[in-house]
Amino acid sequence: MEINKFEEVFEGKLAKNEMVEPKDWMPENYRKHLIRQISQHAHSEIIGMLPEGNWITRAPSLRSKVVLLAKVQDEGGHGLYLYTAAETLGISRDELLDNLHTGRAKYSSIFNYPTLTWADIGAVGWLVDGAAIMNQVMLQRTSYGPYARAMVRICKEESFHQRQGFEIMTRLAFGTEDQKAMAQDALNRWWFPTMMMFGPPDAESPNSENAMKWRIKRETNDQLRQRFVDQTVPQVQYLGLTVPDENLKWNEAKKGYDFSEPNWAEFKNVISGNGPCNKERLAARNKAHNDGAWVREAAQAFAKKRNEIYVAA
Ligand code: 3HC
Repeated sequence: MEINKFEEVFEGKLAKNEMVEPKDWMPENYRKHLIRQISQHAHSEIIGMLPEGNWITRAPSLRSKVVLLAKVQDEGGHGLYLYTAAETLGISRDELLDNLHTGRAKYSSIFNYPTLTWADIGAVGWLVDGAAIMNQVMLQRTSYGPYARAMVRICKEESFHQRQGFEIMTRLAFGTEDQKAMAQDALNRWWFPTMMMFGPPDAESPNSENAMKWRIKRETNDQLRQRFVDQTVPQVQYLGLTVPDENLKWNEAKKGYDFSEPNWAEFKNVISGNGPCNKERLAARNKAHNDGAWVREAAQAFAKKRNEIYVAA
C-alpha cells in the first residue's frame, strides 16, 4: 500500500472513533506523542508512590494504614499497566526507566511537593486523585487501544483513592479545631499545585493541538481545569473549609467559577527539576531501582533456566 493509503486508513479509524492498535500503521509523530504521554503518565504513578508511601508507617490507625497501603500498591500497578502500554509502541522498559532515572523524562509536577501532615494524605487523595480522574476519564476513550483499556481499570481504582482522601478530610474538617486547621492548611498548600496538574493554559500548550487532532486528548487543559474547580468548590463548602483564592467567584453567565491562574512561573520551575522535592524523588527512585537489581537478576536467571529445561524436554 502507498503511504497515502495508510494515512487514509489511520484517519478513517479516528473519524469513526475506532481504536488504533499496536500492529496498525500510525504516523511516526503519533507514536512518539503517545510514548511521551504514556511514559510520563507511568512515571507519575510510580513517583506518586513516594510522598504517600512516606506516611504508611505513620498512618493514625490500623484501618487507615491498610487503606493507604492498598492505595500505594494500586499506583504501582497503574505504572506497570502504563509501561506495558508504552512498550507496545516499540520502546523497551529499560529505556523508559532510564529516561526517568536520568531526569530526561517528566512526571507530574504535583509529586514534587512534600506531604507534611496526615491531612496532606487526605488532600492528595481528594484533590490530586480527583484531578487525575477528571483528566483520565476522557483517556478511557483515547484513540490508542492499549492506553484506553489500561485507563478503564485505573479510573475505577482512582475513584476509590479519591474517596479515601475525602474521608480523611471529612474526619479532620468535622473534628477538633486543630484538626480542622490542619485540613485547611493542607487545602491551602495543595489547591494551586493541583490546578497545575492539568498542564499550561491552552494557548501555551504545544502538544494540545496534535493531541486533540489525533483524539489522544478529548478535552483541553483549560476545559478540564474549569470542570475540576466547578466540581470541587461545593465539596470544599461541604467540609466548611475555604478555597485559598480571593478571586474565586461564581459566574452565572458561564455557569462556572472564575478563579485565579496558578503561578505558572512556579510550574515551569518545578517541571524543570527545581521544585521542592525533585532531587529527593529522583534519588529515592534511583536507590529503589539499584537496590532491586538482585531481584531482576534472579528473575532473569530463573527465566533462562526454565527456558533451557523447556528446550531440552
Ligand atoms: N507536570 C509535569 N509536566 C507537565 C504537566 C504537569 N502537571 N503539565 C504539562 N506538562 C508538560 C508536558 O508534559 C509538556 O512537556 P513535554 O512536551 O516536554 O512532554 C509541557 O509541559 C507542555 O504541556 P502540554 O499541555 O503541551 O502537554 P500535554 O498535551 O501532554 O498535556 C497532560 C499535559 C495534561 C499532563 C497530558 O500529558 C495528560 O493528560 N497526561 C496523561 C495523564 C497524566 O499523565 N496524569 C498524571 C497525573 S498523576 C497520576 O495520574 C497519578 C495518580 O495516582 C494521582
